[in-house]
Amino acid sequence: MVDTEPQVAGGKVLWHFTMSLDGFVAGPNHAMDWMTGFSFRPQLAAEYVATTGAVLGGRDGWDTINGSRPYGGAWEGPIFVLTHHPEDVTPADGVTFLNCDVAEAVRIGLAAAGGKNLEVFSPTIGRQLLELGLIDEIDLHIAPILLGAGIRLYDNPSGVPIRLHRVGEGDPTSVVNVRYRPTTTASPSAPGASAG
Ligand SMILES: NC(=O)c1ccc[n+]([C@@H]2O[C@H](COP(=O)([O-])OP(=O)(O)OC[C@H]3O[C@@H](n4cnc5c(N)ncnc54)[C@H](OP(=O)(O)O)[C@@H]3O)[C@@H](O)[C@H]2O)c1
Repeated sequence: MVDTEPQVAGGKVLWHFTMSLDGFVAGPNHAMDWMTGFSFRPQLAAEYVATTGAVLGGRDGWDTINGSRPYGGAWEGPIFVLTHHPEDVTPADGVTFLNCDVAEAVRIGLAAAGGKNLEVFSPTIGRQLLELGLIDEIDLHIAPILLGAGIRLYDNPSGVPIRLHRVGEGDPTSVVNVRYRPTTTASPSAPGASAG
């Protein structure tokens, strides 16, 4: 299968995740321990460290990561966290807690990104932005694992289907074919690095 082209900085709003084959970006209770044992393409994290200008996330994700920064700390830009209750957050260096509408949060994030991309690290916020037409790209690394439960990339039971065009060369409506077989072991050579 032809891989996506490396990401480029372009002032885009990216909805960016490592996702399980069955569409989850976190396990039950925001579990992230499943994100090990996969091999990502070489320099993938460096690609996003270089092209990301700011990150926008939600309060639940922020509370889950317990102060750790994206890309193993290799990325140093501004982080914005949306919450309706900024009064009870613990301040953190480089993190701004916002209580505003999502479109305003995107304006703030893009201004801070300085021409690089704004990465949206939240299914909840991404869904709101999608409805407003404010997502430029959905950028996924689909991991060979089935979780069966957890936080879905897109959870909108009452919504209508959202059609997408594939970014890159070729027919934008083409189906991506993948073929897997079940295994009981992770790849012994996989470093367990994560993209997000
Ligand atoms: N797989 C990957 O690559 C990857 C990468 C990043 C994150 N993740 C995971 O993604 C999950 C995020 O989960 P999530 O989407 O369910 O939660 P979330 O967006 O992180 O948090 C939801 C909370 O954000 C606040 N919020 C959302 N929209 C708001 C708005 N318009 N105005 C004000 N506040 C708003 C609310 O907080 P209040 O209740 O405080 O108002 C809401 O309860 C986490 O488990 C994280 O680990 C996965």
